[in-house]
Amino acid sequence: MKKESIMILIFGATGDLTRRKLIPSLYHLVRKDLLTNCTPIICVGRKDLSRQEFIDRLNIEKFIEAADPEVLERLLARIEYMRFNVTSDTPEDFTASIANIQERYSCADNKLIYLALPTSAFQRTAELISSLGKGQGWRRMVFEKPFGEDLKSAKELNENIRAVLNESEIYRVDHYLGKQLVQNILTLRFGNEIFSGAWQKRAIDHVQITVSETLGVEKRAGYYDKSGAVRDMVQNHLLQLLSFLAMEPPKDDTPDALRDEAVRVLQRLQPLNSDDVVLGQYGEGTLNGEKVAAYQSEDGVADDSVTETFAAIRVYIENDRWQGVPFYLRTGKRMAKRYAEIRIVFQQRRRYLIGSNGDPNMIIIRIQPDTGIALAFNVQTPHDDYKTESVMMDFCHHCHFGPNTPEAYESILRNVLEGDHSLFPRRDWIEASWEYIDRLYEVAQKPKMYAAGCDGPAEAMKLLKSDGREWLTDENIATAPAIKDFR
Ligand code: BG6
Repeated sequence: MKKESIMILIFGATGDLTRRKLIPSLYHLVRKDLLTNCTPIICVGRKDLSRQEFIDRLNIEKFIEAADPEVLERLLARIEYMRFNVTSDTPEDFTASIANIQERYSCADNKLIYLALPTSAFQRTAELISSLGKGQGWRRMVFEKPFGEDLKSAKELNENIRAVLNESEIYRVDHYLGKQLVQNILTLRFGNEIFSGAWQKRAIDHVQITVSETLGVEKRAGYYDKSGAVRDMVQNHLLQLLSFLAMEPPKDDTPDALRDEAVRVLQRLQPLNSDDVVLGQYGEGTLNGEKVAAYQSEDGVADDSVTETFAAIRVYIENDRWQGVPFYLRTGKRMAKRYAEIRIVFQQRRRYLIGSNGDPNMIIIRIQPDTGIALAFNVQTPHDDYKTESVMMDFCHHCHFGPNTPEAYESILRNVLEGDHSLFPRRDWIEASWEYIDRLYEVAQKPKMYAAGCDGPAEAMKLLKSDGREWLTDENIATAPAIKDFR
């Protein structure tokens, strides 16, 4: 990576994202010596804090494990705190404070601006940045999700931002695309000839995508109760996973070729019927032996809230590769277990030499907390010629590559520093995803209740049962012992 001097500006710096993700990721970039000494990190927040008070609030010992004191010193030396209120302070105040810092660092004019702010503040901040003038260097502006709340608002936001920034200056974050095993979907598909022929309807029976969380709504009710699981997780993370799994090979290795194919998947999604969508909301229940409250009893959530905390969706893609192959998407809060994985389930055919049908072949992409890729296939048992058993070849990512694999946000920041747009959704992808989500809400029924600590409402099980399938986990497939032994 080319090292350049850059002014890094983080808006919303007193929030959780900065503390938990951005500062730890910047620590690792300093540790890897990827930032020049002339790279101030200007943290902008509304609170009236001294620089030291701001640094104390970062709670570094908690969020950067076993930090190296020397690296930490290099990181902290470049952190500045700027009190500024995007909605009430003037662009002149902002320009003056920036000029002051710029003078002290005598840096080049490149600017990376990270907006860890609510969507409502995006446009105003973009205008503020444009008031600084273009300068000599580059300007890259990073927008945290959610990018809009429906098609109309996303379109408006895109329009307004484009009025002050070029598309090449805009980076819309989906942190799932920074995850190693999500990026590996592309490598698995396009870097391994062995799988390319089988990646289509003649071999694949169906695909399951699960992102299951044990966390509840935490302290985010204000945002979450207006959003719900579909806007919070499906519109972005799950549809991105779907795009990567289903896209055609990009025509070249440019970021736009990849993004062209990702958006084509969304444009070919078949309209949904009401029985393709199951929404749910958690009631009280028991999780890891502890009693947990119902969603409606969480702080900041209305007693009669009908916001969904769970969604399961059956998706079909109308193209030659995927005609008739269902993709089942599922995500929820307060579920039994925290994990994210993809199961590509192959068709089962009775063949000469195989006495029993065996289990279906399967590719399992484990996104988290275990990371890796497993392949389930049948072998003949030694003691009975007519029996087969499903066994597992299991690639464990962290066992092979060791600890310190870059966290999602480190990859995201690095890509922005490199000016690489490949892993950032483009405007047309965002709009196509919202169009689909708007249609989904039109057909969806009211959320069904599920007890916290289970796998979602019974209706979500029926969604697959009605197709003669079931949600697969390591526990309910014959290969479970093999997987457990391996770990
Ligand atoms: C965020 C959602 O985008 O992703 C959260 O807003 C969710 O509600 C989080 O908890 C999950 O991310 P991860 O990386 O922990 O799977």
